[in-house]
Amino acid sequence: MQPKGRLVILEAGDGSGKATQTKLLEERLITEGRRVRPVEFPDYGSPSSALVRMYLGGDFGERASSVNAYAASAFFAVDRYASYQMKWRKELEAGAIVLADRYTTANMVHQAVKIEDAKEREAFLSWLEDFEYAKLALPRPDLVIFLDMEPDVSRRLIERRAAASLAEKDIHERDEEYLARCYRASLALSERCGWQRIRCSEAGEPLSRETVHEKVYEAVKKIL
Ligand SMILES: Nc1ncnc2c1ncn2[C@@H]1O[C@H](COP(=O)(O)OP(=O)(O)OP(=O)(O)O)[C@@H](O)[C@H]1O
Ligand SMILES: [Mg+2]
Repeated sequence: MQPKGRLVILEAGDGSGKATQTKLLEERLITEGRRVRPVEFPDYGSPSSALVRMYLGGDFGERASSVNAYAASAFFAVDRYASYQMKWRKELEAGAIVLADRYTTANMVHQAVKIEDAKEREAFLSWLEDFEYAKLALPRPDLVIFLDMEPDVSRRLIERRAAASLAEKDIHERDEEYLARCYRASLALSERCGWQRIRCSEAGEPLSRETVHEKVYEAVKKIL
């Protein structure tokens, strides 16, 4: 069945405010009387994310590059499949606005950067699109928002959060060179794929949550 609702993706580097902005957007849309379903990927609370947890926890190797782009993408994609089928397919079909903190877009960024050869990278991106949207039949997003926060700024936010919660950084978060490459790839993909790019920092400082939220809300309003 063709989904009737809207699927909005918030994509960004680690620690750039996806969860924060998803929450603010959810609250705003609810006060307008809309049906909203927030989802997040990886779906850490579900057994479907077991392979993702093993990968990010370093079970397959301490570097992101320890697991090739195809294998790692499959881990993240099947987690999305389970989440979609079991948690939000019916709601989307019934007209809800589904707000996703990461999606296929995260594989397009974080896994594609592992492939240096441009032709091989294109082949990977074609495979990924076919695998997630055609073979696994996951719905395509109506809007992708890229929260553009400079990596130095998000690194500081992650460090602050890690200190506050004693949470261990995962293998992606520990690899700064990799995060910088992901950031550059996200900018390029935003241009190429029509993602809505929203500036979240300026001159090395984060913009306020509310400033970013207004821009996110304006972008979403256009597709409702
Ligand atoms: N605009 C902002 N200004 C200052 N701090 C912020 C801002 N947005 C988010 N934060 C803080 O930065 C940290 C990271 O934000 P958040 O958890 O929303 O990011 P995330 O993109 O979901 O991160 P991750 O990729 O690690 O899940 C949090 O501690 C959050 O409170
Ligand atoms: Mg988050």
